[in-house]
Amino acid sequence: MAEKTSRIPGFYKLPLEERIRIVKEFANLTNEEVELLKRVGALDLRTADIMIENVVGTFPLPLGIAVNFLINGKDYLVPMAIEESSVVAAASHAAKLCRAGGGIRSVATESIMIGQIQLTRVADPYGAKMRILEHKDEILRIANEQDPILVKLGGGAKDLEVRVIHSRYGPMVITHLLVDVKDAMGANAVNTMAEAVAPYIEEITGGKVYLRIISNLADKRLVRAHCVVPKDALGGEEVVDGIVLAWAFADADPYRAATHNKGIMNGVDAVVIATGNDWRAVEAGAHSYAARWGVYKPLSVWEKNENGDLVGTLEMPIQVGIVGGATKVHPLARVCLKILGVKTAKELAEVIGAVGLAQNLAALRALATEGIQKGHMKLHARNLAVMAGATGNLIDKVAEIMIKKGKITFHFAQEILEKLKRGEPIEE
Ligand code: MEV
Repeated sequence: MAEKTSRIPGFYKLPLEERIRIVKEFANLTNEEVELLKRVGALDLRTADIMIENVVGTFPLPLGIAVNFLINGKDYLVPMAIEESSVVAAASHAAKLCRAGGGIRSVATESIMIGQIQLTRVADPYGAKMRILEHKDEILRIANEQDPILVKLGGGAKDLEVRVIHSRYGPMVITHLLVDVKDAMGANAVNTMAEAVAPYIEEITGGKVYLRIISNLADKRLVRAHCVVPKDALGGEEVVDGIVLAWAFADADPYRAATHNKGIMNGVDAVVIATGNDWRAVEAGAHSYAARWGVYKPLSVWEKNENGDLVGTLEMPIQVGIVGGATKVHPLARVCLKILGVKTAKELAEVIGAVGLAQNLAALRALATEGIQKGHMKLHARNLAVMAGATGNLIDKVAEIMIKKGKITFHFAQEILEKLKRGEPIEE
């Protein structure tokens, strides 16, 4: 059997049915799974009603497939749930550019999450810190008692860190419970453990515990993605320089860094949402990590190597799971995980990091050259053409005329389409 490839030229031009057929074949989807993709109400009300409170409906988003991704030598079709146009096309384009340099390398650390236990009202905070550390084995034992299944899988509470912080209301002793949550996002496991060890920490310190909760600054659960893009694939060294300068702008200015990182999160969140993961956690982790030195910084770095090629690196926390929560309950999340074909949460995080890096590349390339509106307008024009009833070749034809005339409206799309169908000329 031929190797599966995600390099699919002209995927965006194919009719929707054909795109679904390709994804079905790539991911070995069943007919039922394909039906789920097509169904508007893929998340039925009964399931929705179990997921949250006070349900009155569901809220669908478009689900696109980014093509061309080669990550760690493996081809991926990447499902992206997002309301913003151009993002999926941009990710696919950047993935193609990265492919020209051998694809993206992406490596995640183990799935270590941090549970925080806030101890207050101790007379000797540094003494209390020592007492907590001296009882580390017992604290880890109590924590691990809460989740024998996780422990059996090789996960569980592995270590402790204790910090004394100086708050507005005096010192606090903050215990960090370091938990390997394996294939889960981990909030439930960590919060249960943090709550379970709190009374023991009170007992050995004589203090009072208030908060017992996971930290979304998951700086022990990082992804590092890396790509080298040949200058020729980008259109020359001038483009490489433009991208490096765009990064330098973000590095020197938090106003720009915020938007730079927003571009990364366009890709990251879309996959996080498609796989039923908690995108607020990933967002909180990303931005707190970006500001961890006290100044808000870009999550990626873009440089030029000695050949004049572009080198991109991204380092950020990505706290996602493939078991538990909505990842297993939401029927479409399950289909998306199957399309991705990821076997572990670590692999999912690696794909998401790679998508973030590619998304960032696409934005910076466009911004450093023609600007982003051109691409947006092209897609917008195509959307209007489809809305006006154009099909097949007529979609691009109608869009092209609107762009050429600089008039991109629904009514103009209808007018052009009618004229084309009647074989009437469109005046210059
Ligand atoms: C738009 O959604 C994202 C960009 O603004 C990102 C960036 O400026 O780098 C294009």
